[in-house]
Amino acid sequence: MMNKMNMVMACFMVMAVAFPSLLNLKGATAEDYIVGDTLGWAVPPNTSFYSEWAASKTFQIGDGLGK
Ligand SMILES: *[C@@H]1O[C@H](CO)[C@@H](O)[C@H](O)[C@H]1NC(C)=O
Repeated sequence: MMNKMNMVMACFMVMAVAFPSLLNLKGATAEDYIVGDTLGWAVPPNTSFYSEWAASKTFQIGDGLGK
């Protein structure tokens, strides 16, 4: 038989699985990227600089881009 504490824990775990965004708006794996890294968001040294930069990253929902 489940006591009240177990019920609360079970509800919490269901919520955590179903609605992770409620617990952490950015998600556990969200990252903030600085565009261009050390160069920053500037005139690039060549035309493929930013496409190469972006190709080296895996962007996910909740990630941020900064400068
Ligand atoms: C473009 O410039 C970046 C930074 O100097 C360099 O890492 C990259 O290899 C260059 N790409 C090409 C295609 O020249």
